[in-house]
Amino acid sequence: LHTGLLPSFPPSLLPSHCRYALGMQDGRIADDDITASSQWYETTGPQYARSEGDGAWCPEGQLEPSDSQYLQVDLGRLTFLTVVGTQGRYARSNGNEFARAYRLNYSRDGLLWKSWRNRQGNTVMEGNKNAYASVINDLHPPIITRLIRLIPVTYLSTTVCMRVELYGCPWDDGLISYAAPEGQLMMPPGYPIASLNDSTYDGAHERRRLFGGLGQLTDGVVGLDDFLLTRQYHVWPGYDYLGWRNDSLGTQGYVEMEFVFDRQRNFTSMKVHSNNMFSRGVKIFSSVSCWFKPRLIAGWEAEPVAFKTVLDDRNPSARYVTVPLNRRTAKSLRCRFYFADIWMMFSEISFQSAVNASTSDPPDEANTPILIGCLVTIILLLVIVIFLILWCQYVCKVLEKVRSPSGDKRLLPVSCSVIKYLTLFCFRLHVGSLTRSSQFDCRPAATPSSSRPRLCLETETPLSSSACGGGYAEPDITQCTPHQCFHSNAPHYAETDIVRLQGVTGSNMYAVPALTVDSLTRKDISAAEFPRQQLIFREKLGEGQFGEVHLCEAEGLPEFLGEGSPLPDRDGHPVLVAVKQLRADATSQARNDFLKEIKIMSRLNDPNIIRLLCVCVSSDPLCMVTEYMENGDLNMFLSQREIESTLTHANNIPSVSLSDLLHMSVQISSGMKYLASLNFVHRDLATRNCLLDRRLTIKIADFGMSRNLYSSDYYRIQGRAVLPIRWMAWESILLGKFTTASDVWAFGVTLWEIFTLCKEQPYSLLSDEQVIENTGEFFRNQGRQIFLYAPPLCPPSLFELMMRCWSRDIPNRPSFEGLYQALRPHVNQ
Ligand SMILES: *[C@@H]1O[C@H](CO)[C@@H](O)[C@H](O)[C@H]1NC(C)=O
Ligand SMILES: *[C@@H]1O[C@H](CO)[C@@H](O)[C@H](O)[C@H]1NC(C)=O
Ligand SMILES: *[C@@H]1O[C@H](CO)[C@@H](O)[C@H](O)[C@H]1NC(C)=O
Repeated sequence: LHTGLLPSFPPSLLPSHCRYALGMQDGRIADDDITASSQWYETTGPQYARSEGDGAWCPEGQLEPSDSQYLQVDLGRLTFLTVVGTQGRYARSNGNEFARAYRLNYSRDGLLWKSWRNRQGNTVMEGNKNAYASVINDLHPPIITRLIRLIPVTYLSTTVCMRVELYGCPWDDGLISYAAPEGQLMMPPGYPIASLNDSTYDGAHERRRLFGGLGQLTDGVVGLDDFLLTRQYHVWPGYDYLGWRNDSLGTQGYVEMEFVFDRQRNFTSMKVHSNNMFSRGVKIFSSVSCWFKPRLIAGWEAEPVAFKTVLDDRNPSARYVTVPLNRRTAKSLRCRFYFADIWMMFSEISFQSAVNASTSDPPDEANTPILIGCLVTIILLLVIVIFLILWCQYVCKVLEKVRSPSGDKRLLPVSCSVIKYLTLFCFRLHVGSLTRSSQFDCRPAATPSSSRPRLCLETETPLSSSACGGGYAEPDITQCTPHQCFHSNAPHYAETDIVRLQGVTGSNMYAVPALTVDSLTRKDISAAEFPRQQLIFREKLGEGQFGEVHLCEAEGLPEFLGEGSPLPDRDGHPVLVAVKQLRADATSQARNDFLKEIKIMSRLNDPNIIRLLCVCVSSDPLCMVTEYMENGDLNMFLSQREIESTLTHANNIPSVSLSDLLHMSVQISSGMKYLASLNFVHRDLATRNCLLDRRLTIKIADFGMSRNLYSSDYYRIQGRAVLPIRWMAWESILLGKFTTASDVWAFGVTLWEIFTLCKEQPYSLLSDEQVIENTGEFFRNQGRQIFLYAPPLCPPSLFELMMRCWSRDIPNRPSFEGLYQALRPHVNQ
């Protein structure tokens, strides 16, 4: 998408995509799967590590620097783990225990444990600085594992408690290890030395071979075209690649690698991301042969799958080479990659396979009867106990009534006192645990406001509380609430409540002045009720928590809307519309939000903004039908085109001209000018949210956020809130403040996208965390902030305009009216 590489890589495994909460807090990870080396009290047992409220896991006693206590989570399956979040024990300000640092150990099979180290070789990660704020640590490199242990680290003897969430996604590749010859050094005269070793490999390293582990070939980081450049900072040239020289492995002329999988699979293909910088003697492999072994203890099948690549001496781009594997069945693979030049360098290898159902071990099916058996037994026991208690009480009463003063009392006191004793015992136990745990304050879960997720932004230098006042000119932002301020005695973190941009069907919600929506009544929804059976589903555009966005054909819509319908001339083409639809199981809150969104949308009436056409609200599911444009979104459109030149004409390459680009920019500024005049704030302006038709008319839409295709453009916090941080002004990221002026900032980034023809994501060399760090630099304004570069296509005056959109101080940013006036004259030149 942005680099031309992403579509061929399984997007779920890009570390930037794979940031879903794995179920500590929402309970998908069962209590039994969370264990610990020790616990202090019942109320601080390992299962409390998931708590969003007051609890936490605390290892027993004081933690000493030499201790190695751990919290262990069994994820139940191999998982690509990208982020770890920790919090201390807060207990509504009664708790004060947290882990200042921690290490991670992991095991794919539960037998062999390995220590995680980051790309610089450090094992200890910074943890919490106070008992309440959660700290999110990105794992570079990510970990592929089933079991993970968090080991709090301390330098002084102290009490430690932790709450934990893990983020990632399932590792469906199934690869559990690869073996390869060790990577080599490239030492050509006149160039930096490139060290092409596998520096994150977690297996054994013996006799110049790596085996039994995973490393850089599965870390989701694809190398750049020039292998000397790297995606990480503070690493050496050649870091992203594992590479070999053709004469270093004897005279065989190939590199042999072995791949072992979790179970037997049917392989459709293998994708090898390979460098092709032929000017430096590097090429993709000329051919590859793969042998298959159906079971771990079996011979290699005699017949290999062989594949010859098409060598490319013209395009030096690094690329994915897809090797078909003909649906062969195997548990492990051995492949020989033949050299095409002096060097061969790989940065990623992935496998596409299906699990062979007939032979896959069926652990789930085998467990189900046992589980059901256990449940039935427990229920039966409970029933018996309840029955016994009731029966005993009944017997006690009856006996009490019928016993005669002289009667035999032997039986009665025994049975009744046993029950009394048992009850008392249970009561004691219960009270005992209450009194003991009261030191750990076991009040019910915190109020929603104090347990809301927080975003922590690390800043290098302490920010004084003047961040909220003096240093900043715009009057609006001076009204920060205290917790948004940066206290000088708690210097390293600023937190802001996460702003939710996303509406119920996954698109972003426009922010509107409070009065606007409240004053709108049902009657203000000008859109008419459309017969829903005339909407013919074509494809799903996106989805959100409670609904979906569909692309539909609307039969008879022009007739329905009648004269003055806003639909463009269609030349007999069917009318395409976007239909936002609420799912039947939506909460009543979601229904209200959806109706609010309809009200907001029905206010919009501008040639450059997607308009609400009609609704289906008389019956469930509720829908709103908006315009859609046949050329799709601007990001897709531009990324498939080159700038017009004699070359594009001669070769019939789809192209756009500079004046087309200017024309697009003017239209976007015009649409935004209209939104600003209503005091509406878009909050997610970007090329993915601009739709266009065949005549290159642009309309601004709002469902980019719901689309999986663009999920790498959004930063995901705790698996829930999504923020388009690369398009957001600094005050939106740091203070959660969205205004027309922050829309202007996003407009600047959108212009930049247009003039790079959407070939690259903004700040593509920075990770999400670095983008957030850069935001801090924008705030501090000490000249260390990184701006987007001037796109080569872009006239200097236009780049100046972009830079003004990214002014730190809001009064210095242009208005949309000003932008429109500045851009419009360029169009007809
Ligand atoms: C890889 O090479 C780098 C640079 O030469 C070196 O610092 C590092 O220790 C090596 N790593 C491994 C695992 O061999
Ligand atoms: C290595 O590659 C060079 C250049 O292609 C070739 O001349 C040489 O014979 C190769 N050596 C081996 C051992 O394959
Ligand atoms: C599964 O594996 C067996 C061999 O173990 C093979 O005979 C069978 O065809 C495979 N099933 C599929 C669907 O490929």
